[in-house]
Amino acid sequence: MELANVLYEKEGDIAIVTVNRPKALNALNAETLADIEKAMDAAAADPEVKVVILTGAGRAFVAGADITFMQNMKPLEGRAFAMLGQAVFRKIETMEKPVIAAVNGFALGGGCELAMACDFRIASDAAKFGQPEVGLGITPGFGGTQRLPRLVGEGMAKELCYTADTIDANEALRIGLVNHVVPADELMTYVKNVAKRIASKGQLAVRACKKAINEGMQVDIDRAMGIEADIFGILFSTEEQKEGMTAFVEKRKPAFTGK
Ligand code: CAA
Repeated sequence: MELANVLYEKEGDIAIVTVNRPKALNALNAETLADIEKAMDAAAADPEVKVVILTGAGRAFVAGADITFMQNMKPLEGRAFAMLGQAVFRKIETMEKPVIAAVNGFALGGGCELAMACDFRIASDAAKFGQPEVGLGITPGFGGTQRLPRLVGEGMAKELCYTADTIDANEALRIGLVNHVVPADELMTYVKNVAKRIASKGQLAVRACKKAINEGMQVDIDRAMGIEADIFGILFSTEEQKEGMTAFVEKRKPAFTGK
């Protein structure tokens, strides 16, 4: 796989995707977005990979969409760029395997939006978050106006978008944008441990949880309960369900096969 601005590594059943354009603080141009998509496609297609970790090289997670790349765009080009970023991020959000954002540094604009497209976020104490777009005369365009209010509530999302304020990791934790804050030098170990705990469980069930939560959050509660019941029922056709419950009854650890 030829990638210019992204590193793709595997550690056992965990794939680590690192945005790697440190001279521009990993800013997202079209090439970098395409690389992220290719890396995610590779992780999705690899039967060995159970969990994906997304992080950034150097002192940024991602410092936003590439401002020099956008500087002279015309309206239709701007719209197309938003749709490109949105499509890549939506792919991350809807791919079957869980994707954890290990936010190591600046997650601004498109970087905050990329982190929000992941299933959940774990931040280093050096991380910074924000939607600084109005300071550039634009709005967030890779899903920020939509995912931020869903995650932290409308009022907080509006304040962050209107002021362009940058918040630190502890404030991000307080408002529910990240799940945990850990010392910078422990970030990857911590996230890998979370990924390993997920990887040790029934993967069909983990993916079913992702689908049920994602799809249920988009519809009313009664339809959402229907989605949950359907997904719950389907899992009784799997070997994982038989193995998981048999292992419990036999007082041993389950050996899940992903079937
Ligand atoms: N686009 C392009 N280049 C960027 C960039 C970006 N988003 N962010 C940083 N860089 C570049 C800088 O231009 C600089 O390049 P040079 O060395 O060639 O001058 C290099 O990365 C290092 O950055 P700084 O010297 O600025 O580093 P700093 O420590 O002084 O500041 C920072 C760090 C606060 C993150 C600052 O770089 C910054 O404010 N970056 C822009 C953040 C931003 O506004 N992001 C939103 C972009 S718009 C968007 O994302 C729209 C959308 O929703 C789709």
